[in-house]
Amino acid sequence: MLKVKNLTKTFSSPSGDVNALKAINLNIETGEFASIIGKSGSGKSTLLSMLGALDIPSSGNIEVDGVDIAKLSAHKQTAYRARKIGFIFQQYNLIPNLTALENVMLALEFGGVPKRKRKSRAQQLLNEVDIDEEQQLRKPSRLSGGQQQRVAIARALANKPSIILADEPTGNLDSETGKKIFDLLHKLTRSEKTTIIAVTHDMDIAGRTDRTFQLKDGKII
Ligand SMILES: Nc1ncnc2c1ncn2[C@@H]1O[C@H](COP(=O)(O)OP(=O)(O)O)[C@@H](O)[C@H]1O
Ligand SMILES: [Mg+2]
Repeated sequence: MLKVKNLTKTFSSPSGDVNALKAINLNIETGEFASIIGKSGSGKSTLLSMLGALDIPSSGNIEVDGVDIAKLSAHKQTAYRARKIGFIFQQYNLIPNLTALENVMLALEFGGVPKRKRKSRAQQLLNEVDIDEEQQLRKPSRLSGGQQQRVAIARALANKPSIILADEPTGNLDSETGKKIFDLLHKLTRSEKTTIIAVTHDMDIAGRTDRTFQLKDGKII
């Protein structure tokens, strides 16, 4: 269970303070597939960064399974990210010099999986997202957008996270490929009861999730 209470984030900029999040309250159940919609600049990415402990709130609480992640030490926040969270980004963020297989193996290394187990586990993950053996040996630039995002999903799932945070994961894909990516994410996380929180622009996709939150000017409406 994820509980966000009075979450506020203010950025200071040369032209003045920006109130990116204004006293956000929301609860998301374990295993729920939630979507976040809202115009550009409404605070969607800021909210996901807070949930993933990539940035620190100005005030408020974020409780994940009873622990307030905003109050953890930097060291414990790193551990929280590594053990509990899988990130998926619009730009895929794969490492260009590594093959698909090596990208997933690296995530397993960060997750503390012993060396001898990494390759077979990475191959299994990539098979699940339909990246075949030949494609697994390609670098990201030699894969299509949809294939790169499937590799990114395999990477995000590598350490069996309890929460997947996805920031416009299908923003660079055509809408049919985008829907397939969401269906895949859904399918792969059902058995583990993984919570998914995904930002999307696609109302069709949002309509297929369990619940949709709409942000406007840093507030849930
Ligand atoms: N690091 C930052 N410094 C200053 N302002 C920021 C920073 N990150 C985001 N913002 C501002 O916060 C608001 C929300 O941004 P963001 O969360 O990226 O919106 P969205 O993802 O919905 O497009 C915007 O006004 C944006 O310009
Ligand atoms: Mg954004």
